Amino acid sequence: MTATIAVLISGNGSNLQALIDAVADGRLHAWITVVVSNRKAAFGLERARRAGIPVRYHPLKPYRDANRSRAEYDAALADLVNEYAPDWVVLAGWMHILSDTFLRHFPNRVVNLHPALPGQFPGAHAIDDALAARARGEIDHTGVMIHLVPDERVDEGPVLATQTVPIHPGDTHETLADRIHAIEHQLLVDTVQKLIEDGQ
Ligand code: GAR
Repeated sequence: MTATIAVLISGNGSNLQALIDAVADGRLHAWITVVVSNRKAAFGLERARRAGIPVRYHPLKPYRDANRSRAEYDAALADLVNEYAPDWVVLAGWMHILSDTFLRHFPNRVVNLHPALPGQFPGAHAIDDALAARARGEIDHTGVMIHLVPDERVDEGPVLATQTVPIHPGDTHETLADRIHAIEHQLLVDTVQKLIEDGQ
């Protein structure tokens, strides 16, 4: 079975690249039908263009400037994504919270990746938060999780996969982020492929 996937990004897109590479070499039985970014400068858009994947830029600022609501932004995002009829919507470093206005269009079909274990360090600074907790002696490892997005809660929802990641003495943001990303790339591909095989 080959599934269609929309990937939403906000930045570098290394996880998008992992999906693109896995499609190319047959590990992921999918067709990435669109990549959407809320940031024009996101390098992930360039990665998508190089792979011949349609890209769409959907910024929030024009909505804010026109006093239009977040719900309007989310509704337009849902319309845009729906044009590409995805079986799955993968949030690969998408840094906006999605409201029910978006999510109700894709029930049990939105998958989020987060660089922390369930219940730990939600939000945009999970890696730095883990390093700070390590410095306080509270933890010696962090992790990665992939989960479904049922509602507006940040980085929460039914867990599909987790993997722990050790924090080494002397780790910096960069060294820990590199270790986390390498694990994310593998876990994201494997988890999305499993969803496709299970055809949930
Ligand atoms: C990834 O580490 C992902 O887990 C994180 O953004 C990064 C995107 O990297 N997502 C979150 O923090 C969500 N709260 P990438 O652009 O290189 O794929």
